Amino acid sequence: MGHTGGVSDLPVIDLSPLRAGTDVDGVAARIDDACRRVGFFTVVGHGVDPGVPRRLDALARRFFALPERDKARIAMAEGGRAWRGWFPLGGELTGGVADGKEGLYLGEDLGPDDDRVAAGWPLHGANLYPAEPPGLAEAVEAHLGAVTEVGHLVLRGMALGLGLDPDWFDRHLTARPLVMLRVFHYPPVDGTGWSVGEHTDYGLLTVLWQDGAGGLEVRGPDGWLAVPPDPSAFVINLGDMLERMTAGAYRSTPHRVRNTSRTGRISIPLFLDPAFDAEVRPVPGADVPPADSDADRWDGASVHDVEGPYGDYLLSKVSKVFPALAADALDPGPARGRPAATA
Ligand code: OGA
Ligand code: NI
Repeated sequence: MGHTGGVSDLPVIDLSPLRAGTDVDGVAARIDDACRRVGFFTVVGHGVDPGVPRRLDALARRFFALPERDKARIAMAEGGRAWRGWFPLGGELTGGVADGKEGLYLGEDLGPDDDRVAAGWPLHGANLYPAEPPGLAEAVEAHLGAVTEVGHLVLRGMALGLGLDPDWFDRHLTARPLVMLRVFHYPPVDGTGWSVGEHTDYGLLTVLWQDGAGGLEVRGPDGWLAVPPDPSAFVINLGDMLERMTAGAYRSTPHRVRNTSRTGRISIPLFLDPAFDAEVRPVPGADVPPADSDADRWDGASVHDVEGPYGDYLLSKVSKVFPALAADALDPGPARGRPAATA
């Protein structure tokens, strides 16, 4: 295979033969190999117009350059249970330590009539958009739509690589996925701190766009690897649910960020996650996880012991990174109660 040399480089996978149907099996095999060895890879030939992330990047920079009090008009506290809006530098904790980033929390924009919103499900709801700069909402919608498709495409390739039907994920987990989008601004780091400490992502698949600044690092089998910044590509990494579903054969790989460039870095991760009420079970053919498979995980928590719907797992994790918000926004309150799992 072309890009898999050692483990000192991240695989780069061209998705165009998968989109065109010309070499579906070849792409599926490359995805499978990358998922087993590293859990991180870069995709090109993804079909997304480069103007889509570029426009969101440009508008996000204008938003983050506004005075704090303007940004605070859409503070996350205003987003309530939907968990949308702006959080300031230091407002999110990873591994108990404040991150060196500010950000906008967004997601699939769901109105009050959506059944999940009507049922009071946390993390589902409407986006909060600022008055300035105009056009941000449209740029977010365009990016979220196009990049969600990249995620579904990779999941189809992954299903084939696992020997499953190409629509296996759609049928079991992602017919109505939870789609969250974040736009982060990382000021340059001086000194020794991290912009985001070591962690894994919680769900299925993260599809990340990053600007040219660099600073994202992945824990490969032989040590930390820098992810080369390439604004024309997307970086894919696997979340805890895929590690769980494959009994550890696929890796939910620890990663971290440190912006040592001299400019503000923008990154835009999209989290394509199982439906909130989906029960995440091993894929057909997965082995039993080895007894010590979680012994050295970054947070010491097992992904294999999880029980119940995906939403419960996610909320337990999210509460750790936003403790103050979790206390009020996630309190079920007397009127709504917790949505019942329907899966
Ligand atoms: C994350 C993450 C990396 C980045 O949001 O989970 O790892 O480059 N982000 O912003
Ligand atoms: Ni992450």
